Amino acid sequence: MLSALIGALETGGACVMNLRLVPHWLIAGGTRSGKSTLLARLITQLAPQPVALVGIDCKGGMELGLFSGRLSALATCRREAVAVLAALVVDMQDRMSACRAAGVRSIWELPDKLRPVPVVVLVDEIAELYLSDGTREGKAEAEQCSTLLLRLAQLGAALGLHLVVAGQRVGSDLGPGVTALRAQLGGRICHRVNDPGTAEMTLGDLNKDAVAVAQAITAEERGVAVCTGPDGGWSRARSHLTPTDEAVATSRKHSALTPELPAIDRALAVLEGDVK
Ligand SMILES: Nc1ncnc2c1ncn2[C@@H]1O[C@H](COP(=O)(O)OP(=O)(O)O)[C@@H](O)[C@H]1O
Ligand SMILES: [Mg+2]
Repeated sequence: MLSALIGALETGGACVMNLRLVPHWLIAGGTRSGKSTLLARLITQLAPQPVALVGIDCKGGMELGLFSGRLSALATCRREAVAVLAALVVDMQDRMSACRAAGVRSIWELPDKLRPVPVVVLVDEIAELYLSDGTREGKAEAEQCSTLLLRLAQLGAALGLHLVVAGQRVGSDLGPGVTALRAQLGGRICHRVNDPGTAEMTLGDLNKDAVAVAQAITAEERGVAVCTGPDGGWSRARSHLTPTDEAVATSRKHSALTPELPAIDRALAVLEGDVK
């Protein structure tokens, strides 16, 4: 459960993203290095499992929109992202109360009937959330996204909330909040990067050798990345390429398993002016 086979380690083993072992992940890489492909693979792997998938893709949903049949919600611009993330924080606070009332420390200790569905939030391109466009509104939204994502990461795993965040750059040029968020994302996957600093920021606090190996990934090696394991180790790996049509077909096939998240639907409807 909540585990995805995402690729093959070059040492021969399987590259697995197990969210129960490592709750939150950071996926770094330059343009066309394989980030979206990896997210697609992850969605395909999680699609048959009892989990709510929430997409945040502020490039108009071009990448994650393909899988909308299996997504419980999709934010396609930053305003929507703020609404979705804020609704999730409220949801998590409710879960916290439920756990407290039952005298347990995590949703996994709740009886089956009471246990809420785990939620995986997938962010394609973190910079779209954090970079201010210079307007006062844009700056406020960026700050809200930063605060809300950090809050979700902190409330996190015990409440069944998982973050998988992809980005070209993950440094403090995106704002002060990104460093704090990075610290919360324990799982790291670093594809070929545009600048050595990004590999350093993705893997540096974990292992210096891993940084050098990530920096040496060439532009031709699409889908190749340095991945951290649950035990603090790391390895070069290649993600399994799931062709887009196959990923779309899989998420369609499992669309009946898509849990409803009414609080998020309501928040998005309010934005669209459907609800006053
Ligand atoms: N694991 C992989 N194996 C083979 N080709 C890959 C793999 N991952 C990505 N690619 C190729 O690289 C291209 C760019 O990947 P993409 O995931 O869109 O990069 P990014 O989102 O980082 O810009 C894809 O269209 C695909 O053809
Ligand atoms: Mg992409």
